[in-house]
Amino acid sequence: MKSLSLRVQHVDESATLVFTQMARQLQQAGIDVVSLTAGEPDFPTPLHVKMAAIRAIEENFTHYTANRGIPELLKAIVEKFEKDNCLAFDPSQIVVSCGAKHSIYNVLQAICNKGDEVVIAAPYWVSYPQMVKLVDAVPITVSAGEESNFKIAPSQLRKVIHAKTKALIFNSPANPTGTVYTQGEIEELADVIHETGIYVISDEIYEKVLYDGVKHFSIGCVKEIRDQVITVNGVSKAYAMTGWRIGYLGAVKEIAQAAAKVQSQVTSNANSIAQRAAAVALAAPSDDVTMMVHEFNRRRDFMMEQLSAVPGLTLQKPKGAFYLFPSVKAFVGKRWKGGMIRDDVDLCNFFVNEEHIALVPGSPFGAKNYIRISYAASMKELEKGIRRLKSGFKKLSEAY
Ligand SMILES: Cc1ncc(COP(=O)(O)O)c(C=O)c1O
Repeated sequence: MKSLSLRVQHVDESATLVFTQMARQLQQAGIDVVSLTAGEPDFPTPLHVKMAAIRAIEENFTHYTANRGIPELLKAIVEKFEKDNCLAFDPSQIVVSCGAKHSIYNVLQAICNKGDEVVIAAPYWVSYPQMVKLVDAVPITVSAGEESNFKIAPSQLRKVIHAKTKALIFNSPANPTGTVYTQGEIEELADVIHETGIYVISDEIYEKVLYDGVKHFSIGCVKEIRDQVITVNGVSKAYAMTGWRIGYLGAVKEIAQAAAKVQSQVTSNANSIAQRAAAVALAAPSDDVTMMVHEFNRRRDFMMEQLSAVPGLTLQKPKGAFYLFPSVKAFVGKRWKGGMIRDDVDLCNFFVNEEHIALVPGSPFGAKNYIRISYAASMKELEKGIRRLKSGFKKLSEAY
């Protein structure tokens, strides 16, 4: 058999799925496993959105649509960008794709040549470096550690930009840390972006999931760099619509057209029924988002309070998204049943096997010896999860 492409051999599979899969296998074997690995809201899609999809099917709206998206969805996106983000786009500057992930990939295909560099702040969402590698470009990671609230400084960005740098992937609110950049911090980064002329792919998928009165600021609002920014968003997180697969981007016409060209040869339009539903989600204001964020806030506070009391665990209170990202360095080197916890991956194995709780290791997010705990789970599951986490950390604390 001929070999696989070098490109695909250099790409890792989505690491978040490994522990989700382990949890599923144990559950299938009849074991009660708490899974805190989810990257999606545990709420149902709002009823009025589901009804729009049902109507679309009844009306036989089940064929190919325009490649970039149906007019009513493009209009809803233009209005959403204007209302929520102060971003002015013409419908011709919007491309609807099969999820924000797909939008980001289309952009990378559209702007990157072999060997171009794309800057990513670490910890990062697992797919960024892998997608960069898939287009034969090179991910350049810049450390955004706990000591800087998981944010990069303008000086760090300036240092890594040179002739081969094509873009920065920017994510605020961020997965996995929940960090949210302020307007001032974004404006300082924008100075560097303006000076150097690189693109910014701004992934704003968690824009609506914010706490403590924190406000989201779109980097594309900084007028000096407006034309360098590709703003990506979607309906997955804000409207509990992960399975519908609708994401979108807004960019200068040249980039939007290039991304649309890539899409036209790979998937064509996003799902017709889901487009109708997404148009309703974006256009019709509803209390569902507020209610969901309120509930996430309650869960975040509960988890923070409980985990802050665990000796050795250090964690920051996230301002957005629905994850906690504690450092587990204090538990590395502990011995358990003849083996040793060498790192975050061993720790996640320990938790899933010993305590039946599934978590995600930080390493694939570019943060060794951290773990990601999703609180997109019911309070009942979180309470059970906390008992198991405390039990596991206690066992390890008492180990040598
Ligand atoms: C930071 C970030 N961007 C994008 C996505 C993907 O969103 P979508 O479902 O719209 O493809 C995720 C999903 O987990 C994410 O965490």
